[in-house]
Amino acid sequence: MARFTIRVNRNELSTESPPDRPLLDVLREDFGLTGTKYGCGEGQCRACTVLIDDQPTASCLTTISSVDGMSVTTIEGLASGDQLTALQQAFIDMEGAQCGYCTAGMIVEATALLKRNPKPSRTEIVDAMNPHLCRCCGYRNILASVELAARRSEAGDA
Ligand code: FES
Ligand code: FES
Repeated sequence: MARFTIRVNRNELSTESPPDRPLLDVLREDFGLTGTKYGCGEGQCRACTVLIDDQPTASCLTTISSVDGMSVTTIEGLASGDQLTALQQAFIDMEGAQCGYCTAGMIVEATALLKRNPKPSRTEIVDAMNPHLCRCCGYRNILASVELAARRSEAGDA
């Protein structure tokens, strides 16, 4: 066991943990941030995606010791209070979530995409979202949500 401290959603949080414990378990069990989901535990579904120093990363494959002292953003850290991000609002408007299990990972991934590339082409959106599985097969509305957020931001609506 060792003590690890990470900056999660702009708050410094510490925990005692075995060093090889997945970040996903620490977020959900120690910090109560259950928005990030466990899907496969093997890096195949990306439901567990969080931002680590702004990079979308599978938290099920990331050990707590490897992120000690780093900055992590989860789905809970995107909105400002009740103010959703443009992307979150676009997911609501385009019905980009069905059961919602994949949605946190999708939104976190697309947040990073729109930050590095505010006007992505359809192909660039598909490429970025490609590692993410949606068991409800809601891909069409998910892609439309990302496109809507990009369009609104280009139009200055967001
Ligand atoms: S739970 Fe992490 S990739 Fe599936
Ligand atoms: S909305 Fe159900 S898994 Fe994607």
